[in-house]
Amino acid sequence: MDSISIRGGRPLSGTIPIGGAKNAALPLMAACLLTEDPLELSNVPDLVDIATMGKLLGELGAEIERPDAEGHDAGRGNAPVLRLQARQITATEAPYDLVRRMRASVVVMGPLLARAGRARVSLPGGCAIGTRPVDLHLKALEALGAEIELKEGYIEARAPNGLTGGHVLFPKVTVGGTENALMAAVLARGETVITNAAREPEITDLAQCLAAMGAKIDGLGTDTLKVSGVDQLSGCRHRVLPDRIETGTYAAAAAITGGDLTLTGARADLIESVIGLLQRAGVEVTEQGDGLKVSRANCDLRGVDSMTEPYPGFPTDMQAQIMALMTVAKGAAMITETIFENRFMHVPELCRMGADINVHGRSAIVRGVGKLSGAPVMATDLRASVSLVLAGLAAEGETRVNRVYHLDRGYERLEEKLAACGAQIARVAEA
Ligand code: EPZ
Repeated sequence: MDSISIRGGRPLSGTIPIGGAKNAALPLMAACLLTEDPLELSNVPDLVDIATMGKLLGELGAEIERPDAEGHDAGRGNAPVLRLQARQITATEAPYDLVRRMRASVVVMGPLLARAGRARVSLPGGCAIGTRPVDLHLKALEALGAEIELKEGYIEARAPNGLTGGHVLFPKVTVGGTENALMAAVLARGETVITNAAREPEITDLAQCLAAMGAKIDGLGTDTLKVSGVDQLSGCRHRVLPDRIETGTYAAAAAITGGDLTLTGARADLIESVIGLLQRAGVEVTEQGDGLKVSRANCDLRGVDSMTEPYPGFPTDMQAQIMALMTVAKGAAMITETIFENRFMHVPELCRMGADINVHGRSAIVRGVGKLSGAPVMATDLRASVSLVLAGLAAEGETRVNRVYHLDRGYERLEEKLAACGAQIARVAEA
């Protein structure tokens, strides 16, 4: 298995292009199941999770092409345009093997039910960051008239006479649950109101694409979405919004190394909570051209508290990276995780690099240390893995981050982008 080797201690300087958002692209791809027409998505990142979703949609009957976009370096195989067309739904099952690999596979359930009247989707089970049930997805689909049974590890959902509009009230904010409810509601008969909907920018991006396909949705960007079902949807062209977590991660890379990075294509309005935190920590963040400039050239980092919350609060997907940053700040920072119950798996690894962190329930107290030291480390999920890369960029000596496949799920050409800005980083293939 490959690992990433980093020799830390160099300030990064240069420009990093920010790609399309993985967590927007995945449900947008699933939306192709809602129409027989082609859906053309641009700015789709080239990631393992995107390939996994492509494989699943292919098994359900969609044709998927990655035509080379003009001006794009086709030789690298990362063309950003994806054309998807599900002329017919030929199967309605999301098998265990794919759902186990990528939980986001469950977002095919809403579109399959809406278009084909049935879906059989493997129950995802727990994962590295928590138990992550899908009960709220199922309640939402039941509110739209679906009949649901759990059998042999699978969710069997049926709506033989089509879905009907209803009131979906989420007791807790759920991104995937909102996406499933929205994609089911757009083809249901009558009106649906989704209350306490997630407001993440990726949901708004999905709703905008669905609207361009002919869906009638009011309340975009708010926690109440009103959907008037339509008989059918058509295809459209849609550009995936920039990845706010990739943006925040590279902003943290500039900050932790005391460097200066320009993040092209990044949108400040998507990560205001993260920018606010970085600024309170002493990092300069300014909008520049079509992106952001992040620098910490002449001042120390300060410890700043943070608590994860649904959007527009501070994102759980940035918690590990900000924790890495706080390990080298002056003073202490309390970091509280409220979204997932088990998302501190990076703590013992950061401590092996010399960090001083104590976990008390849902909070971690990080006391800044002068320097981290390189070590072999590994992590159990995507954001935890990248937090170790950040720590490695600031540490003295060599850091080896194992289990690189986590990074390949969510960061496109990570080592290339960092190396272009002066990082000593390389992928090491293991025999
Ligand atoms: C999405 O996961 C993202 N994944 C996650 O990003 C992100 O961390 C998360 O939203 C929160 O922002 C994708 O978009 C593909 P949730 P999702 O449903 O939709 C509980 C990354 O690193 N819950 O909003 O699965 C759940 O256990 C990933 O890119 C229920 O109890 O998250 C959690 O505690 C990791 N029942 C909370 O709600 C349900 O039916 C929020 O989860 C559904 C969720």
